[in-house]
Amino acid sequence: MKMQDTKTEKTNKLGYSALTDDEVVGTEEQFGANHYGRLGTIVRKTEGAWLYTQDGKKILDCLAAYSAANAGHHHPKIVERAIDALRGNYASVISNVVYTDVLSQFLKRAATILPQLAPRFGEHGNKVLPKNGGVESVETAIKLARYYGYEHKGIPDGKQEIIVFDNNFHGRMITVVSFSTTAKYKVGFGPMTPGFVAVPFGDIEAVKKAVTPNTCGILVEPMQGEGGMFIPPDGFLKDLRDLCDEEDMLLLADEIQVGMGRTGKMFCFEHENIVPDAVILGKAISGGLAPLSVMVTSSKLMDMAFQPGSDGSTFGGYPFACACGLAALDVIEGEGLVKQSAEKGAILKKRIEDIASRSTHVKEVRGKGLFIGIEVKSGDAMMFCRKLLDMDMLANDSHHHTIRISPPLIINEAEMDYIVERLEKVLVD
Ligand SMILES: Cc1ncc(COP(=O)(O)O)c(C=O)c1O
Repeated sequence: MKMQDTKTEKTNKLGYSALTDDEVVGTEEQFGANHYGRLGTIVRKTEGAWLYTQDGKKILDCLAAYSAANAGHHHPKIVERAIDALRGNYASVISNVVYTDVLSQFLKRAATILPQLAPRFGEHGNKVLPKNGGVESVETAIKLARYYGYEHKGIPDGKQEIIVFDNNFHGRMITVVSFSTTAKYKVGFGPMTPGFVAVPFGDIEAVKKAVTPNTCGILVEPMQGEGGMFIPPDGFLKDLRDLCDEEDMLLLADEIQVGMGRTGKMFCFEHENIVPDAVILGKAISGGLAPLSVMVTSSKLMDMAFQPGSDGSTFGGYPFACACGLAALDVIEGEGLVKQSAEKGAILKKRIEDIASRSTHVKEVRGKGLFIGIEVKSGDAMMFCRKLLDMDMLANDSHHHTIRISPPLIINEAEMDYIVERLEKVLVD
């Protein structure tokens, strides 16, 4: 096959190259790992809540890159600041032996958007350890809890245990899939990392039974995203908080998917008015333009667990990502996206519940803010997602049985009507 130059002279105005759709698919299939099941659409351009194809079709994005595009695609204010960083020559990765002003500002911002974490160790402020993809910051939090167990609780090194939940999703690297309860993420990839105990999500008695003298922490998604979009019973996070205090364990909140306004609060743990000991953020924190994630905890715990050399990442917190992160935080706060998520989410959920009441397909509608799941009786949510895509609306399934509706938080009323009309067609008509 004669390979086409990746950047041939463009005959169209959308996207990176003049490759035809067939060439794009053929090239990805020939040279890319087959680790994603694709829905088939080829997207050339993204803007706001919309995805654009070569033939001029517009598709409403109700997936928002699993919450990475909370601010919408190519938000002009974030793009402008990203371009400033590139044009100002302060964007490129720099060796981590020097300081940069943009990282300093991002760290300060990420530390102070959160309340004092782990306040039982004193009100000394928070500190931030930046990484790239979300899974890296999950592992950083695991290291924090394990070190805490070793140093503070005197658990022999190698014996530390962390409690996690059935159907958890924290990424797909080895340590994290080691405690996944979803076979396809782990079968054949052993040996797995020990030191984790999984219990049913929402079952505080099961959590209590799983605590041993070697337990150093609990890792929880305050609402489960990939696991089927489940909201824990009221009071569950508070019970976890109390248990961690009683048993001297760290409560680690993975807010990668449900934080940054997605559920109608800046952080999902705020629904129960609790304060975790460490918070993991990713996805939307960089406005969808660069990989950036953070593990934030109290200064006391961060200084206990991490010394020069005990952690690091070449690109973690590099200037371009930090410039995007600062801009994204300005947009989320400045444009009231959290409030918008709460208000629009409440309206959209009510309208979806109305559809559900007239549908023979829907088992349950659940969610908060613009994080809405529609569980279908057949268990085959993807069948509905394919029909939605035929009507130019991108959604996908969560844990097979649930249609995930999580558009960018900037969607407007007309776009909400667009979603409702299509859901009505696939679930009722
Ligand atoms: C709750 C949660 N944690 C961790 C991750 C992993 O993030 P990443 O894919 O950026 O590594 C995800 C990704 O979907 C997630 O939803």
